[in-house]
Amino acid sequence: MSEHVADNKGKELLKNEIKELKRLKNAVILAHYYVDGDIQDIADYVGDSLALARQAADTAQNADIVVMCGVNFMGETVKLLCPDKKVLVPDSTSGCSLADSCPADAFAEFVASHPEHTVISYVNTTAEVKALSDVLVTSGNARKIVDSFPEDAKLIFGPDRNLGGYLNSVTGREMLLWDGACHVHERFSAEGILQLKKQHPEAPVLVHPECKRHIVLLADKVGSTAALLDYALASDADEFIVATESGILHQMRKAAPGKTFIAAPADDSTCACNECSFMKLNTLEKLRDCLMAETPEIQIDPALAQRALVPIERMLQLS
Ligand code: 13P
Ligand code: SF4
Repeated sequence: MSEHVADNKGKELLKNEIKELKRLKNAVILAHYYVDGDIQDIADYVGDSLALARQAADTAQNADIVVMCGVNFMGETVKLLCPDKKVLVPDSTSGCSLADSCPADAFAEFVASHPEHTVISYVNTTAEVKALSDVLVTSGNARKIVDSFPEDAKLIFGPDRNLGGYLNSVTGREMLLWDGACHVHERFSAEGILQLKKQHPEAPVLVHPECKRHIVLLADKVGSTAALLDYALASDADEFIVATESGILHQMRKAAPGKTFIAAPADDSTCACNECSFMKLNTLEKLRDCLMAETPEIQIDPALAQRALVPIERMLQLS
């Protein structure tokens, strides 16, 4: 038997085990578009951060266990929205460089030094930072939520300086920005995209707003992962250049098998920098093991959870 066939058989066995454990334990599996395609395929729901939060607030409520295949802040968001459920993550070391770029104590000082400002935070934050925020946003609803504030409102936006800068440019605001960023989205290469554009002149460039401004300026469409997917499906174009984490390409290729999706290159051609190493910690094996052992489990101090839930609920009402 070839290695490839053996690999596929192994995967199918694992997937069957996961399905059976899910049934036995009344569990639901949520997955972000950035995790490995095999996990996306077995998940009950795949989506962007906004859709996953909505799923947690909605359908996941019927399950006893919710497994969040993504990164820890996503597991925390699910736990905040489903406090009575057992919320599991396949790998508890699945951090996020953007969330890490905003330590809660430093952010608290920043907020305290601007007491007249309303604090808008991206959902890619720890529960502690969420608790310091007035409202959360995802890339899917950020513009709408920023626009919901009066034009002269004094606003802080954290932690992503790129998303914040993009929002300032499209809404005409002058939000004070926290100086954080995502290590994946910061590394796309403008020269690499322009090179691809020469080879594929008709291909629209799809860009996530976590990218730097000079990459956003090359975009035909700027949006959340779900918005980029929707754009590609609705477009008449046959080819697309995609500047976000490469996991989304699995869903794009699946939804539009006749179209060609080209991953935008990072500034260092020797690395797989358009892959989020944290997202890729999720594997079928770890998913099976976490369902079997019911660990690692997300736990949040109840007093903190109470404070962190307020801006999430406000976001869901506003979006
Ligand atoms: P969206 O899911 O809102 O597109 O955000 C992407 C992201 O970086 C998640 O970590
Ligand atoms: Fe965090 Fe960036 Fe990975 Fe998203 S892609 S989880 S923002 S490190």
